[in-house]
Amino acid sequence: MNDTMKAVRLHEFGGPQVLRYEDAPRPSAQRGEVLVRVHAAGLNPPDLYLREGYRALPPEWRPNPTFPLILGTDVSGEVAAIGDGASRFRVGDEVYAMVRFPKDLMTGSGAYAQYICVHEDELALKPKGIDHIQAAGAPMSLLTVWQLLIDLGHDEPNPFQSFRHAPVPLAGKTVLVNGAGGGVGHLAVQVAKWKGARVIAVASGKHERLLRDLGAEEFIDHTKTAAEAAATDVDLVIDAVGGANMERFLSIIKPGGALFLVNPLGFSGNEEAAALGITVSSTQVRSNGAQLAEAGRLLDDGIVRVVIDSTYALEWASDAHQRASRGSLQGKIVLIV
Ligand SMILES: NC(=O)c1ccc[n+]([C@@H]2O[C@H](COP(=O)([O-])OP(=O)(O)OC[C@H]3O[C@@H](n4cnc5c(N)ncnc54)[C@H](OP(=O)(O)O)[C@@H]3O)[C@@H](O)[C@H]2O)c1
Repeated sequence: MNDTMKAVRLHEFGGPQVLRYEDAPRPSAQRGEVLVRVHAAGLNPPDLYLREGYRALPPEWRPNPTFPLILGTDVSGEVAAIGDGASRFRVGDEVYAMVRFPKDLMTGSGAYAQYICVHEDELALKPKGIDHIQAAGAPMSLLTVWQLLIDLGHDEPNPFQSFRHAPVPLAGKTVLVNGAGGGVGHLAVQVAKWKGARVIAVASGKHERLLRDLGAEEFIDHTKTAAEAAATDVDLVIDAVGGANMERFLSIIKPGGALFLVNPLGFSGNEEAAALGITVSSTQVRSNGAQLAEAGRLLDDGIVRVVIDSTYALEWASDAHQRASRGSLQGKIVLIV
């Protein structure tokens, strides 16, 4: 096999223009790893945060990687080679994964490339019922939803809070999803629905038809009506947006209910929540092949659908990042390799 490949690499932090399509060394599988020939790579907000050098963090927390760096955690492709000690997959298997998140993002070897090495514990067989584009759109968003709503799946320390995040029962409950049109949000709507919840979706109006198709019973257009003015007696709010004034959701949650935040930085309602008997909880998504295999059955059976906002050829990764920066995504952006 040729020892170079095409990849999109960063030689410095910055805007989308720092993404360079060029030759790079092809990685080789280390112990416990599998070499995957990439068919598609999904975009996620952390790709943009890393491209910019995590500018929103205080300087002492910002990464200081060795350039060049290849971005990308979400991949779907085909096993090309097996490293020593890896035994679960065979050459030719179609697989998908969220790779090395949140650990080891600075290894320099991400999914925006023709090949990537993945530890076999992070890998699952691609659901046969979906193509590589949908499969590459799933891993981070689906694992985020799975770990928030179904099963945390690990005992690692939680960077957001001192206690372990715990999912809550969903059957027969009313669940409001804010940011329901986005990558995490549209999957949260479907997983909550699958678990028997009545779902209220909050998104801008262009997503209404899709979200009703995906199972939302009610729809609130946040550009016209504030969610807290239109909903009441909610058991669980999943805020898949973050940012300012997340405390506003506390007023629509029943006592004993819960508020799950995908992006809790800036939340300041802990005292109010405690007084109201509302649990506020967050977790940081972690790579997990076994969970992708389990959640993949929902994708295979068509119970959960990965919606694709747009696709770009790998060499146009900078255009894909520009699309992501404009926001208002409907589902996922995927690079085709
Ligand atoms: N905790 C974790 O480990 C974890 C994991 C994954 C993602 N995240 C975080 O979760 C957030 C969402 O990620 P994502 O991949 O789903 O992003 P995304 O695909 O960009 O989706 C964000 C969605 O929010 C909607 N939105 C924006 N402003 C809104 C508002 N004021 N009210 C309601 N909806 C609004 C957008 O569309 P409309 O405005 O058109 O409705 C868009 O559909 C990001 O901050 C990400 O960093 C955290």
